[in-house]
Amino acid sequence: MTGSQEKQITILGIETSCDETSAAVLVDGVNLRSHIISSQIVTHQKYGGVVPEIASREHSLHIRPVVEQALAEASVEFKDLSAIAVTYGPGLVGSLLVGVSGAKAMAYAAGIPLLGINHLEGHIYANFLEHQDLEFPLLALLVSGGHTHLIVFKDHGRYEVLGYTRDDAAGEALDKVARALGLGYPGGPQIQKAAQDGNEQAFRFPRAMLEPGSLDFSFSGMKSAVLNALNSARMRGETLNVPDLAASFQQAVVDVLVHKALLALQQTGVKTLLLAGGVAANRLLRETLEYELSRQKVRLVYPSPVFCTDNGAMIAAAGYYHFLAGDAAPWTLNAVPGLNLKSL
Ligand code: KG4
Ligand code: ZN
Repeated sequence: MTGSQEKQITILGIETSCDETSAAVLVDGVNLRSHIISSQIVTHQKYGGVVPEIASREHSLHIRPVVEQALAEASVEFKDLSAIAVTYGPGLVGSLLVGVSGAKAMAYAAGIPLLGINHLEGHIYANFLEHQDLEFPLLALLVSGGHTHLIVFKDHGRYEVLGYTRDDAAGEALDKVARALGLGYPGGPQIQKAAQDGNEQAFRFPRAMLEPGSLDFSFSGMKSAVLNALNSARMRGETLNVPDLAASFQQAVVDVLVHKALLALQQTGVKTLLLAGGVAANRLLRETLEYELSRQKVRLVYPSPVFCTDNGAMIAAAGYYHFLAGDAAPWTLNAVPGLNLKSL
């Protein structure tokens, strides 16, 4: 290595918390040298959702080739890495264990630090991959298959969770409704697609806003309203228009997310909103927030769709800041399926 390269911080990021095996090599927090995602969506599609045992088996098969490909594409070897960052929770325990044990073995053998990354933090850090000019404080709306959180971010690693879902996550509700509508898995993109041909005012589903000023979410009532509408129609021998149902449900989910995000911005006075998680790829959510926030002179930032859903690049991005903070994980690091988001 030359003298200038020696100063580079090169992180290998590994993600295996659910149904994607992914690895990425990131240099100095912004230069993504490689990014490999091996998705299991096709494998799980025939079951209508992720089957945990199959997911962990698939991760075991793919982790090695995915890491090897990421290193090869980045033209680096283990000896060139500064550290290995890995998701250790939240997620499916069997899936997390494959990533954690693999990363631990590789980091130990290479004699470099292991960085344990919270998957939710990783989703938020996806924004730093493409936006280097973000200034704290930041507000993050994290909307994924398992979580719906509003988080104020005071500095790297310093968060406060302002609100979260009391029942279903936004993505989970979209997935369940899509399944009931026969649209398949994963549901969010299918609902978005079906909604293109539907009327969002055809059905009026409840928007649970909870107590005045609350930044918590609840999506299960809205989901049940769709299921009830479908069942009552079935009992009457009628069929309902699927694109209309998809459009009306998507609108209801987006209305609640936008309302709560605006409320959080108002309560905190923060001037930048970060979108994160799989549902952040939703076009209606992005466009509605774009419109609302431009009127309030609040900046909206979101990752490219590939960095919204699960990926190794976001884990490497979060790992970069952990590395700078000297926050290496112990060799006893274990998978924590129910890991919460807490400040360092
Ligand atoms: O972040 P993610 O990949 O996995 C978790 O950490 O949960 O999020 C997956 C979720 C799924 O519920 C999926 O239906 C949803 O993100 N999703 C979308 C879109 N793309 C993915 N929801 C709405 N619109 C989309 N375009
Ligand atoms: Zn995720």
